[in-house]
Amino acid sequence: MSTTIRFHQYGGPEVLVVEEERVGAPQAGQVRLRQEAVGVNFIDTIFRKGVFPMSLPGVTGVEGAGVVEELGPGVESVQVGDRVAYFLSPGSYAGVRLINAADLIAVPDDLTALQVATILTKGLTAWAALNGFYNLQSGDRVLIQGASSNVGLLVARWARAKGAFVIGTTGSPDKLELISGSVDHALLSNDSGFQRQLSELLPTGADVVYEFVGRVTFATSAASVKDGGTIVTVGAASGSPEVDQAELAKRNVHLVGGPMAQHLQGRLGAAVADVFQAFREGTFGEYTPSTYPLEAAALAHSEIASRRKIGPMVLLP
Ligand SMILES: NC(=O)c1ccc[n+]([C@@H]2O[C@H](COP(=O)([O-])OP(=O)(O)OC[C@H]3O[C@@H](n4cnc5c(N)ncnc54)[C@H](OP(=O)(O)O)[C@@H]3O)[C@@H](O)[C@H]2O)c1
Repeated sequence: MSTTIRFHQYGGPEVLVVEEERVGAPQAGQVRLRQEAVGVNFIDTIFRKGVFPMSLPGVTGVEGAGVVEELGPGVESVQVGDRVAYFLSPGSYAGVRLINAADLIAVPDDLTALQVATILTKGLTAWAALNGFYNLQSGDRVLIQGASSNVGLLVARWARAKGAFVIGTTGSPDKLELISGSVDHALLSNDSGFQRQLSELLPTGADVVYEFVGRVTFATSAASVKDGGTIVTVGAASGSPEVDQAELAKRNVHLVGGPMAQHLQGRLGAAVADVFQAFREGTFGEYTPSTYPLEAAALAHSEIASRRKIGPMVLLP
């Protein structure tokens, strides 16, 4: 039997219910995976709310790490007993799940399932931000709207390690102190003096702005990027922004976004290796997950909704 967290209707964290089920045999191309750690990501709440609709009842979550338990017909890329992980493959909030073998990557011997479920999706998104959506150069002046987000924290730390000058924002006063060690300057995005503070730090504007917040910060992002600069909309936690395309075009500002996976095509192996190596070398700094029993998934989602904490979260089946 497996514990699976399902939602039968879209809504708040309370729609996540704990169910027990027998997971069947894997179909052609699939494996049955016993999961040891399930990464929690903001996108899990987007599926739960129905902003990205999925068929109901649904299982949210896109990331996990565990051990292959059974192979479906035709699977040759992995063996029973292999330690594997995956990212952006919906249906992860479960103790045991079926998954396409093609979605799996090998977990290195020196990393635990917990470590990999903590960094894989967020690290690969940060990798795409720095090497795909935009090619960050040493000396770039960077503004990160939502440096308090788990991906934003990694982008900030990795960008600084690459020699960029990084200003990071949060919308929550309590988090200013928490992000200050990860950026060169931490600012409150909704402070009335934000634009003045930013132009003192970046008189000619940012080379690149990474957006994780969207609607409530985009106007200041547009005002903060230099003419000819780039705005990368990695995420929009507050909703989709209103964008004055004509104004951006007049200033030759490039606006890029979309799924990070587009930037991994043909480069996934290199990106995964870079993420694991950055983790080993300490580039990600203090990035210890808060762990919750799988059954407490609704509590983890309440923590995201409350916006009180920063730092990654992992569910343990
Ligand atoms: N493009 C892709 O492929 C891709 C991949 C991964 C993630 N993403 C996106 O990247 C973003 C960050 O993901 P994550 O997992 O790192 O998120 P996270 O750790 O849960 O952080 C979300 C952040 O967004 C801010 N926020 C949340 N709700 C908000 C609201 N209503 N108004 C203003 N700010 C709000 C919070 O900042 P404060 O409380 O500090 O203001 C919070 O720190 C999400 O939008 C996610 O969907 C995109």
